[in-house]
Amino acid sequence: AMAAERGLAMATCTAPVNIAVIKYWGKRDTDLILPINSSLSVTLHQDQLKTTTTAAASRDFTEDRLWLNGKEADVGHPRVQACLREVRRLARKRRGGGEDTAALSLSYKIHIASENNFPTAAGLASSAAGYACLVSALARLYGLEEELSEVARRGSGSACRSMFGGFVEWQRGERPDGTDSLALQVAPETHWPELRVLILVVSGEKKPVGSTAGMQTSVETSPLLKHRAEVVVPERLAQMMQHIRDRDFEGFGQLAMRDSNQFHATCLDTFPPIFYLTDVSRHIIALAHRYNAHHGHTKVAYTFDAGPNAVIFALADTVAEFVEVVRRSFPPATNGDGFIRGLPVGSAALSQELVAAVVSMGLPRVPDLCPAPQPGPGPQLVDDPSQHLLGADGLP
Ligand code: DP6
Repeated sequence: AMAAERGLAMATCTAPVNIAVIKYWGKRDTDLILPINSSLSVTLHQDQLKTTTTAAASRDFTEDRLWLNGKEADVGHPRVQACLREVRRLARKRRGGGEDTAALSLSYKIHIASENNFPTAAGLASSAAGYACLVSALARLYGLEEELSEVARRGSGSACRSMFGGFVEWQRGERPDGTDSLALQVAPETHWPELRVLILVVSGEKKPVGSTAGMQTSVETSPLLKHRAEVVVPERLAQMMQHIRDRDFEGFGQLAMRDSNQFHATCLDTFPPIFYLTDVSRHIIALAHRYNAHHGHTKVAYTFDAGPNAVIFALADTVAEFVEVVRRSFPPATNGDGFIRGLPVGSAALSQELVAAVVSMGLPRVPDLCPAPQPGPGPQLVDDPSQHLLGADGLP
């Protein structure tokens, strides 16, 4: 299928975004990307958010090349190179050293094209889906069938969790060489079909401090982060797994919010401090707490990564009402364009009581709402050759 015999081989995969509910923040080895604590995430459905990557190899290519969202990018990036090197090493090992003539030559140069179906400017973490997709496409190209979260981890720590669908744990591992620092599926996406995820895009701007640099400063300066990794996370991880197993939204939501808050507390405890949350983020936090207080239990839970955008977890029966609360709390954007993209949210009438208790008018800015309705599966092979991002000439 891959036409290796004609000297051009091509494979296309898609991969999902994941959102951590027990956060990864801090490395014990920056080169191998080994974390100081285990983490746990939900893989989002690719109908809403996904990366697509085509990898091609040909004897006619004269150099490795990379295109991101249609623009040529630096293929020499150390993390891209680490993934390429690891995949090629595994392919060589599999062939037992000798060149199998039927297999794709490992000496061929490679072309890679990658695209997101969501605007990169939306400020959503795209590196996890990006590296998971790169590794999946390369693995297909070279015919590798083993579990490759260890390789995706070399691209971006959180990328190893995007190698699986559903609910995924990244085990920190103990070994210095990182061979036990892997992702494992805790439960498949079908385990909790009522769970929904909403992304409130507060800002599409590039973050002032990237995660890689930020977490390193935290490791070097924050005593709270050390305590978190050694004491808090091990306990929380076990609790979170149980909440997921029980489909206990109250427990899941409470712990997700607390863990997000503690991650941002370690950012404030970093010296100099790092601020990812903005006033709008804090308004969303307060809104979620007012909403839950009004209902007397946890109906929505927020989590924030290294940026101001909110990810909201809720059960399906809560989405329409909470979306209406958000809509009513933030004034319409002056340009009035699409607040809600793609999500078939039913309309909800709010009671006077709820409006008075929860809705707060005149908040600074309308967040865009990017819905990713459900947990979803891991990387997928794209069979249809018309979906390749590279043409028969190996160019986008
Ligand atoms: C806050 O995986 O982007 O989103 O390993 O340096 O590439 P690197 O960092 P990255 O960090 C993600 C941090 C986080 C929490 C999480 O996803 O667990």
